[in-house]
Amino acid sequence: MRELYLEKPGDLKIRESGPATAPKDNEVKVKVIYGGICGSDLRVLRGTIPYATYPCRPGHEILGTVVEAGEKSPYQVGTKVASFPNTYCGKCEFCLQGRTNICANKKSFGVTCDGLFAQEIILDSEFVVPIPADLVDERAILVEPFAVNVHALKRTNISKGKSVAVIGCGTEGLLAIALLNHMGADITVLDINPIKMEKAKSFNKNIKAMYPADAKDQVFDVVVEAAGVKASIEQAFQLVKPGGALISLGITGDAINYPALRITRGEITIYGTIIYTKKDFVDAFALLQDPAFNVAPILSRIDPFAKYQEAFDDALTGNFAKIVLDFR
Ligand SMILES: NC(=O)c1ccc[n+]([C@@H]2O[C@H](COP(=O)([O-])OP(=O)(O)OC[C@H]3O[C@@H](n4cnc5c(N)ncnc54)[C@H](O)[C@@H]3O)[C@@H](O)[C@H]2O)c1
Ligand SMILES: [Zn+2]
Ligand SMILES: [Zn+2]
Repeated sequence: MRELYLEKPGDLKIRESGPATAPKDNEVKVKVIYGGICGSDLRVLRGTIPYATYPCRPGHEILGTVVEAGEKSPYQVGTKVASFPNTYCGKCEFCLQGRTNICANKKSFGVTCDGLFAQEIILDSEFVVPIPADLVDERAILVEPFAVNVHALKRTNISKGKSVAVIGCGTEGLLAIALLNHMGADITVLDINPIKMEKAKSFNKNIKAMYPADAKDQVFDVVVEAAGVKASIEQAFQLVKPGGALISLGITGDAINYPALRITRGEITIYGTIIYTKKDFVDAFALLQDPAFNVAPILSRIDPFAKYQEAFDDALTGNFAKIVLDFR
């Protein structure tokens, strides 16, 4: 079987690695169908995540079919599953509260341990989620990045007509827009890339899109920060109405100026949000099963696995939403 392999940052290759071993105990062997290229895969490729480990097999968003199951696995051969790519220990104080997404012993596939971009992989059954039978693969492959937003938008109450700004229309921002559109929110989006703004507007003609500089005097009930750069996070504070909420989804290690006066006097609530729990995956699948839920603009294209270089190069331009590799 073949897999992608990253010896060091910038050095992505395809290699023959022999068949996957037999699954033991609770493990399953999954024949991979699709793998979605994520922003974090690009950061691991570029070498900009300080805690990423090399060499490694990249990738974490995959779906496939169980082809062999260990004797303790609850899954049968033939079950379609998606990866649950952030592990948890189940024992720390956060796991015991059900908050496995902030587990003290979390590992992230393709970042802090080997990832999943291979034709066959062995996974612990704990870290796969069965895919509803009526869900097509081309929607199911969005579950992981979408669950991030399902989790994020649960942090505060968003109802029909609420004004919500989304900063950054990458895959995460676009998935937030998809869900906010489904909820009936009054949506404004900000991005520095006009291609991304057009993509955001394709969900609904009522969505207002603008460059960050053009949003200066506006305020919103809720702001979803999904760009993750210093400028966008600092602008996010300025765009929240007094009494409003900021959902802080974008990630940066840069120091951010904290506008204490505005936050304190305006009683602004800041919600940090990180990945998802299993419940968020289940809720994300339920939404993806609803034909009225529009996610069509998110999937840019599906490339054969052998064209990984072109797929990663295009993803790195920042002009695409989700690019998926077909491992069959
Ligand atoms: N909290 C979580 O659980 C979680 C999960 C996944 C990703 N993330 C983070 O969310 C962020 C977005 O992820 P993504 O995969 O969509 O990234 P992405 O790079 O695909 O998208 C970022 C978007 O922000 C835009 N942008 C850049 N600077 C901007 C600015 N100043 N103002 C407005 N827009 C600007 C870019 O043009 C791009 O469209 C990243 O920081 C990522 O690390 C967080
Ligand atoms: Zn991802
Ligand atoms: Zn834990």
